[in-house]
Amino acid sequence: MAVQNLQSVPAELSPEELEAAAQRDADGQANFDRVMAEDSRIEPRDWMPADYRKSLLRQISQHAHSEIIGMQPEANWISRAPSLKRKAILMAKVQDEAGHGLYLYSAAETLGQSRDEMMDALIAGKARYSSIFNYPARTWADMGAIGWLVDGAAICNQVPLCRASYGPYGRAMVRVCKEESFHQRQGFEILLELANGTAEQKQMAQDAVNRWYAPALMMFGPPDDDSPNSRESMAWNIKRFSNDELRSRFVGMMVEQVRVLGLTLPDSEIRFNEDTKKWEHGPLDWNEFKEVLAGRGPCNAQRLERRREAHDDGAWVRESAAAYAAKQVNKQKEYAA
Ligand SMILES: [Fe+2]
Ligand SMILES: [Fe+2]
Repeated sequence: MAVQNLQSVPAELSPEELEAAAQRDADGQANFDRVMAEDSRIEPRDWMPADYRKSLLRQISQHAHSEIIGMQPEANWISRAPSLKRKAILMAKVQDEAGHGLYLYSAAETLGQSRDEMMDALIAGKARYSSIFNYPARTWADMGAIGWLVDGAAICNQVPLCRASYGPYGRAMVRVCKEESFHQRQGFEILLELANGTAEQKQMAQDAVNRWYAPALMMFGPPDDDSPNSRESMAWNIKRFSNDELRSRFVGMMVEQVRVLGLTLPDSEIRFNEDTKKWEHGPLDWNEFKEVLAGRGPCNAQRLERRREAHDDGAWVRESAAAYAAKQVNKQKEYAA
């Protein structure tokens, strides 16, 4: 019997121990297959195939990084928000995104990688995050467009992830999605107010929608025939719908909502296909997507630089927290003795 999940096998095993490890793997695989067939959940202590673990770790850590980097375009506008009310709302929203990062790093840690390792990879520029956050937020209306379109796309993507087969990821998504709904509402409300304001304000809202529309559609990832990880992720009940399916649903939602705003989407090819019963949109510039993902977008360098600075600035907090934790452990030891 071959040992499949090498992570569970320590070095230097006797033939009997190897046999037992192979048996554990076979039993684990059988349990995993049953869980997938029943569409129920895998938990951190359950046996899982090495590729499933690796794929989840990649997806959840990328998601965590996106939340953390995603704080930057909006944090830039906190000091320039047009009223105290808007400032308070935007601060709460940006803070939520930090919280989302924390839930997700915690979920990823249950798969065996430390937060430090994930953060080091991000800071070294070796980890990916959503390409959307490498675009600049030029005006106050961008706060509206980001909330409405970017958080809106995130909701479309993440609601099905609440049923992801990996327990900690699914549960993190439930909390995240509740907060994302508020994020989208606040974005919509900013745009609605601008769209009903002066002609300049309305134009500012329209320009922001024009700028964020295509990058938001690209948040769902490359087209299905060019998405190597999707098929696997769907077979493992992590992803429930394909990139194109989710993108089409999102377009349908936005078409309805943009009418209420009194604005337009910058895409004359949007139509509902009666045969497929799906919304279709105009072509997207996938070369641009690849360029941004490869680190050559408008703000990639700036975002990473800011992340590095924030990490350095926070060193004293991490040191203090570690010193406090050590002190508590020592206290408990003394108490036990
Ligand atoms: Fe978020
Ligand atoms: Fe959000």
